[in-house]
Parts: sequence; structure tokens; C-alpha cells
Amino acid sequence: MTDHHSAGSALTVDNVTKTFRIHHERASSLKQYIAAGGRNHYEEFVALRNVSFSVDAGEAVGIIGHNGSGKSTLLKCMAQILTPNEGHIEVHKKMAALLELGAGFHQELSGRDNVFLNASILGMGRKEIAARFDEIVDFSGLHEFIDTPVKTYSSGMYVRLAFAVAINVDPELLLIDEILAVGDVTFQQKCMEKFVDFRTQGRTLVLVTHDGNTVREFCDRAIWLDRGVIRRDGDPADVVDEYTETMLGAEASEGAEGSRRGDGRIKITRTELLVGDVPVDRFRNGDDVTVRLHYEAPAPVQKPVFSITISSLAGAVVTEPSTRDVGMVPDTLVGSGHVDVRFDAVPLVASRYVLHTEITGWGRQHVYDHVQNAQTFDVIAGETKEIHGLVTLRPTWSPPINGTGGR
Ligand SMILES: Nc1ncnc2c1ncn2[C@@H]1O[C@H](COP(=O)(O)OP(=O)(O)OP(=O)(O)O)[C@@H](O)[C@H]1O
Ligand SMILES: [Mg+2]
Repeated sequence: MTDHHSAGSALTVDNVTKTFRIHHERASSLKQYIAAGGRNHYEEFVALRNVSFSVDAGEAVGIIGHNGSGKSTLLKCMAQILTPNEGHIEVHKKMAALLELGAGFHQELSGRDNVFLNASILGMGRKEIAARFDEIVDFSGLHEFIDTPVKTYSSGMYVRLAFAVAINVDPELLLIDEILAVGDVTFQQKCMEKFVDFRTQGRTLVLVTHDGNTVREFCDRAIWLDRGVIRRDGDPADVVDEYTETMLGAEASEGAEGSRRGDGRIKITRTELLVGDVPVDRFRNGDDVTVRLHYEAPAPVQKPVFSITISSLAGAVVTEPSTRDVGMVPDTLVGSGHVDVRFDAVPLVASRYVLHTEITGWGRQHVYDHVQNAQTFDVIAGETKEIHGLVTLRPTWSPPINGTGGR
């Protein structure tokens, strides 16, 4: 660790490759196990491939990319929670990381105990924490709940406390993965103000987000990760524009599948969106819509689980239902046919959305067929005129009631 606020490099990522082992479903009998040569099968999945960059002290860097492009993996490597298979990472500054929701919190302990625990993990002494304690609780706004076990906290409350600790341990380098999106708008604004302070103090920020505008407004630089490699690294406005354009471009080339993986023993041959019996690629919010997945399995497959993901163009997942959620998984399936999933009165706000489809084994680990960007569809204004956010919660507003003195 070097001295505070000095220029130079805050962090160096040097030729980092990170692979995961994807285990196929476990052998269900001794016979299968022996047939497999006494091992369970696995594949290597490359989540990051030869990633190199360095972050200067005082820089604010935004990391963008599709779901599964390796952003969280990269941050975990930087936070030294994961070890790269190749390459290495050097951190030159005092670092704090806000990664997964609730990571680092002990469920049974109170907010107070977790503040002490967390801050000491981040390198603060007990006295120092005690001196900062009130400020931390003030920032979190959780006075009433500070002696309650954190297992009773909402996700927004978790984030408040975690952020309050991270920002108050005085890090020179702060890594944040997405999670601030969980907080409410007031808290998000408070965090943004902190980021601005942070930057003016010459500290360093690395932020993963799906929100291009945050990157444009707050970052000096953007890095676009695409399937584990750096696709672009440069001016935030340029990188965000190009990223957004390629996404739109991919959708414009009708029917072009983004990517496909899996062993293909059962495949989704086609997807359809139906309103009534009519195939559509746009509908109104409030419509009843069926997603039809046509499949084909030349030979019997065991316990196939069908699932779909609906996400925004920016990659935020709206919903991800599967046939396993409803206990509708056949022991085996062979031949061709289709599976329908129906959504009544779809509450999506007007925008363009992406549909991804997947068939996996029962354990959801073994992928038979995964189609990223199976198709896109447009939702147009119908039942609601709302345009922000992803869904409408069908609000019922009351008109102003005068004369209650603002109470
Ligand atoms: N522990 C793990 N074991 C196996 N595969 C993993 C593991 N962690 C991540 N992966 C895989 O590595 C890839 C990158 O995942 P990662 O979470 O880094 O993506 P991401 O860019 O953060 O995505 P998102 O936008 O959805 O948060 C994904 O395909 C994911 O399935
Ligand atoms: Mg992630």
C-alpha cells in the first residue's frame, strides 16, 4: 500500500484468465459413475480471457457488458475473492469492495455487530470504528434497526449499511458491483454525491453497472467486456454509444441469434410470441401473451427443465421462470413438440425487450441448449402510459386531499 492520494497506478490487471468448471450432472448410480471412469464430468468455462488494463489513481472507471460477460468475475478477482488461473492483479491502494448483496454480513448478528465486523475486515481498528460508528449509522439511516439481526433486513437496507461501512473506512479504491440499483432514489443520490466527493478527493472508483447514463456522467473511462474479453476501453460516451448500438444492431438483424451453447441433445428450434393464436413481435402492455418454445430431441433426454429469461435491452433481468418452479418436469422427453408459458396482463412498460431461452437438466447446471437473444419484442403503451422502469405495479393514485396541513 502506498501513501494516500498519490498519483500513479491504483490497480493493475495483467493478462488475467479465469475459468470455471461446469460440472455435468452427477452420476446417479454407481454403474454410471464407473462407466464415467470414476469421475464426474465437467467442462471448463472461460469467464475471463487475457484481460489486461490498469486504473490510475483518481480515475473513475465504469465496466459495462451483457449478462454473463464476466463483470462480476472480474471484480471478484480484483477484490481477491477469486484467484485468476493465469495472470495477476496488483492492488496498490487501500481497497474496499461492495460486491454481492449481503456478502460479508453475518445473518444472525445485528447491524451494529456487522458494522464492527465488516469495518475490521476492511482494516479499521476497533477505536477507529467506534469513533466513526455514528457517522456510519447516520449515512445508512438505519438507527431504528441497528440492533436487529441483519437477516430481517430488506435488500435495500443491506445495501445502505454495506455502502455506509465501505465509504466510511476511508478506502482509496472502491469497487462496486451493480448493487446500488437496489437502494431507493434518495439513497442512490446520496451515493452519487459520495462518488463525486470521492473523485474530487482524488480517490479511485471502479463501478459495474447496466446504466449507460451513470457511466457517461460519472466515469472518466469505460471498459466494455464481451464474453470475457475487453471489447473496448476508452471514452465513456464513445464506449457506451457503441455498446448500445451493437445491441440494437444485433436485434435489427431479425432472427439472428446472439449465441448458443449446450450439448444440443434437446434443442429449441424456434420461439413464438402469441397473442390469442396470432404470432406477434409486439403487443400492448396489459395483453395476455404466450411464449411458445418449439423443441426437438432426437433421443430421450432426462428431466429437461425449460426456462426463459426476459430482460431489458440494457441487460436487466425482468423475470426468469422455469418449468421446475412449478414442478412440471417430465422424467424423459423425446421427439418434437412445444412448451407454452402464458403471462396474463403483461405489466411490462413500453420498450424493447429481449427473450433468452434455455433447456437444462434438473440440476440447472447441465445445459442442453441455451439461446442468448432468441428474439426481441416490443411492448407498446396500452393499459399504462408509464415509460420508466421495467414494469408497472399498477398504481392507484388518490387525488390531493386539501387541508390536512401536509400531514
Ligand atoms: N462460480 C461459478 N461457477 C461456474 N460458472 C460461473 C461461476 N461464476 C460465474 N460463472 C459464469 O461465468 C460467466 C460470467 O459471469 P459473471 O457473473 O462474471 O457475469 P456478469 O457480467 O457479472 O453478468 P451479470 O450482468 O448477469 O451480472 C457466466 O457465464 C457465469 O455463468
Ligand atoms: Mg454480475
